[in-house]
Amino acid sequence: MGRLDGKVAIVTGAAPREPGVGNGSAMAILMAREGAKVLLVNRSTERAEKLAADIAADGGEASVFAGDVTNTDDVAAMGQAVMDRYGRLDILCNNVGIGAGGGANRVEDVTDETWDRLVDVNLTTAMKCSRVAVPLMRDSGGGGSIINISSIAGALGLTGGPGAAAYAATKAATHGLTLSTAADYAAEGIRCNCIVIGSVATPMVAAAGAEYRQRRIDMVPMQTEGTGWDIGWAAVYLASEEARWVTGLILPIDGGLCALRAWPR
Ligand SMILES: NC(=O)c1ccc[n+]([C@@H]2O[C@H](COP(=O)([O-])OP(=O)(O)OC[C@H]3O[C@@H](n4cnc5c(N)ncnc54)[C@H](O)[C@@H]3O)[C@@H](O)[C@H]2O)c1
Repeated sequence: MGRLDGKVAIVTGAAPREPGVGNGSAMAILMAREGAKVLLVNRSTERAEKLAADIAADGGEASVFAGDVTNTDDVAAMGQAVMDRYGRLDILCNNVGIGAGGGANRVEDVTDETWDRLVDVNLTTAMKCSRVAVPLMRDSGGGGSIINISSIAGALGLTGGPGAAAYAATKAATHGLTLSTAADYAAEGIRCNCIVIGSVATPMVAAAGAEYRQRRIDMVPMQTEGTGWDIGWAAVYLASEEARWVTGLILPIDGGLCALRAWPR
């Protein structure tokens, strides 16, 4: 028996930009391994098709939906696609997220363009996808689990780097969206939780170079990086019936970094 047998999941930004295991791909692979059918949402289909093939080779079921989740019409079509293909929706992983790019990103450095782009991609996408998912979960009749993805940058002020004002603001706002969604739909059994991701070695981070990675490791009380699998297993738990009474949780998976300060504040 899989922990997610009979359930249907959407994972946005499922395929990482570079080869390797990202947070979204680990969530999709592990959810499929636990019995869920998974809709993999990406703008480019090539990497997502490879992920779907890997999941099929692993004995799971997944298919690709090509769409940009900043686009309202694409998000509506994503909801239609999951119902057409699988007939229900139980799990939504709002994984899509981007950084501001290299260079200084303190508040005095942020351009309007960067601010708007990060709000659009990191925050508004979670609202748009949840807005479409909630009625589908309700119609499916089995409750639901929405999993938002945040960052330690949204929970802690991190010094020693080039700043992350826009990124941190969008990730902190995701905590508010999570709590509000959890409260609004708890009575219907539609749960909403948020994973606060720490220093995880995804392909995106590998591309940032060894010095950047070592600086991130040095901050972590456990003195190691996490992997996409650490995030994927947390998502499996939050999606499963094991977490049936868990909603509104802001869950750090970070090797102890958030333990350095009282939580929640
Ligand atoms: N890797 C880390 O250490 C770390 C730390 C904290 C938080 N996070 C968060 O984890 C999530 C995933 O990060 P990752 O490291 O696996 O990165 P990643 O870049 O490998 O994956 C993100 C995916 O989202 C896709 N995407 C971006 N915009 C999109 C859009 N508009 N529509 C559809 N797809 C889109 C990208 O193409 C990519 O495939 C992000 O929300 C990120 O902020 C990562």
